[in-house]
Amino acid sequence: MRFNKNVQEVLNKQVNAEFWSAYLYLSMSSYLAQKGLTGFANWMRVQFQEETSHALKLFDYIIARGGEVKLEPIAEVETDWSSIKDIFESTYKHECKVTDMIHNCYEVALKERDHAAANMLQWFIDEQAEEEENALAIIDQLKFVGDNGPALYMLDKELATRVFVDATQAAK
Ligand code: FEO
Repeated sequence: MRFNKNVQEVLNKQVNAEFWSAYLYLSMSSYLAQKGLTGFANWMRVQFQEETSHALKLFDYIIARGGEVKLEPIAEVETDWSSIKDIFESTYKHECKVTDMIHNCYEVALKERDHAAANMLQWFIDEQAEEEENALAIIDQLKFVGDNGPALYMLDKELATRVFVDATQAAK
């Protein structure tokens, strides 16, 4: 089956969106590192790596289908937030937006009867549910911590242990 142009277009847009997400989280990582929150900064750096792996999964898929990858410029990202909670609330909101985009890709694939692409996108649908859950879990922890310095310090230590595992490779 020839690779449908509309599916290709929407997946190319998603490659750009995933790289934009990677930039956003790297910017957040930089902000957190400057505040001395090295554990939170690490968590965001791993998030950057995850987003890059998502972009590459789509990149590889387009090529494997005989399509053409179009790498567009990556738009500027925010560099300032009002609090750590604000950062994770922005993360959650952003992930909800990405979920919508993935659902749209899936719907285009189904509309064009490209079941192979729809099947590949199923991985992203599951991943998005996890991404939203992860951001919400940290927001909950931050609410619990409040202004308690030692508790924030402990949470920072916990987030320092996050390591990048390329889940896109296991899924291949
Ligand atoms: Fe690749 Fe966080 O979505």
